[in-house]
Amino acid sequence: MRNEMKDAKTIDLSRRNLLKGTVAALIAGVAAPAFPLLAHAHAAATAAGKPKVLIIYYSRTGNTREIANQIHRGVDGDIFEIHTVKHYPDDYEALKKVAKEELATEYKPALKTTIENIRAYDVIFIGYPIWWGTFPAPVRAFLAENDLSKKTVAPFCTHLGSRLGRSVRDISMLCQKSTIQDGLAIWGSDAKDAQKEVSGWLHRLGMNE
Ligand SMILES: Cc1cc2nc3c(=O)[nH]c(=O)nc-3n(C[C@H](O)[C@H](O)[C@H](O)COP(=O)(O)O)c2cc1C
Repeated sequence: MRNEMKDAKTIDLSRRNLLKGTVAALIAGVAAPAFPLLAHAHAAATAAGKPKVLIIYYSRTGNTREIANQIHRGVDGDIFEIHTVKHYPDDYEALKKVAKEELATEYKPALKTTIENIRAYDVIFIGYPIWWGTFPAPVRAFLAENDLSKKTVAPFCTHLGSRLGRSVRDISMLCQKSTIQDGLAIWGSDAKDAQKEVSGWLHRLGMNE
C-alpha cells in the first residue's frame, strides 16, 4: 500500500529531489521566481537547501485521495491522509446532517493523524471534499492543530457542483499568515481521470518536477 495509507508516525520521511533544476537555479540566484509559490520556495530553498512539500488531505469516498495521489506523482513530498477518531455515518442523509451541525458549530473532531514535524515543511497541499460549500470539519481540526504560518498553502478539492465554494476564503481566514495559492477543483466523478488537469495546475504553480 502506498505511503499515504501509512500512519504519520511510521512513514518513511525520505524524499527525492524537489523542483530539481528550477530550485537549483533559484538557489544560485540565476532565475527570478515566476510564481508566488516559487517566490516562497525560493526563500525556503535558500534557508534550508530545498523546499519541503507536504500533501495532506481528507477523503471519505476516495475522490480527493485520487487527486492527492496524482499531485504526489507530480511533485516530490510526503503525503498523509487525515483520519478522524470517530467514524462518520455511512448513511448519506445522516452524514449530511452531522456535517451541517459540525459546520454550524465549527466543530473540530479528534484526529488520529498527527504530523510530527509540520515546521519542516514549506509548501502544504491541502485537499478535501466540499461539504456544505466549504472544507469538512476534519480539515478544520487539522488547520487548528497545525500552525501553517509563513508556509505556502495550495488548496485542492473534489465536489459535485460547488467547485471550491467558500473553502479558499475560509482557509485564508484561518491561515492569515500563510501564502494561499489559487486552488484546484475537480468534479468528484472525474477524479480518476484528472491527471492532466492536476499537471496543468502544478505547472501554473511552478511545482512540476
Ligand atoms: C456531507 C456532504 C456534503 C456535501 N456538500 C457538497 C456541497 O456543498 N457542494 C458540492 O459540490 N458537493 C458536496 N458534496 C459532494 C462531495 O464534495 C463530493 O462527492 C466529493 O467528491 C467527495 O469526495 P471524497 O470522495 O474525497 O470524500 C457533499 C458531500 C457530503 C458527503
